[in-house]
Amino acid sequence: MNTKMEDWVAALMQCEQCPLRREGNRGPTRYCGDPSSPLMFVGEGPGGVEDAYGVPLVGPSGQLLDKALWSVGLTRDHIYVTNIVKCRPQNNRTPTLEEGKCCANIHLVKEIELVQPKVIVCLGKVAFQYFYGRTASIMKNRGKWFEYMNIPVMPTYHPAFLLRQTGHSLVESKWQVYYDFKAAVEKAK
Ligand code: URA
Repeated sequence: MNTKMEDWVAALMQCEQCPLRREGNRGPTRYCGDPSSPLMFVGEGPGGVEDAYGVPLVGPSGQLLDKALWSVGLTRDHIYVTNIVKCRPQNNRTPTLEEGKCCANIHLVKEIELVQPKVIVCLGKVAFQYFYGRTASIMKNRGKWFEYMNIPVMPTYHPAFLLRQTGHSLVESKWQVYYDFKAAVEKAK
């Protein structure tokens, strides 16, 4: 970790800027992966497992993310993984757009500045809506390219969405995520 990244992590650990910090969690989760990667994956926010370990996407959703990464020849070491909100909302509720903005405007913005990714992949609605507003729909836009500060941004399904699916829809969604990840890898070259 370079010094600037260390400084940001230290600031994150001290952060008390938003009410989520006071929702009975164990404190902020940091990033995982490689801060010099061209590929940044942005999830929603920590669940119970992430809160316990202090690392994003290491619970059931994260395990599915790992499988999807392997399908395109990647592991966590090849990418940078983070969340819109760093502190677990109480009872695992979905963070609101306002909570997302409050946290991400301080921390995610800093991460983007430090990592300078070539591509950002939004895992699910919360991440996509942070960049493109309350009405930004994953169903309508997954796999399409957008832009944030001249960085290509692509929304795709959150692994938790896949975990809720069965049968044909599950197979179809897995293929869609596979093609989305492949496109992101190509774009980041
Ligand atoms: N865990 C995370 O860290 N992020 C998510 O988006 C979901 C579960």
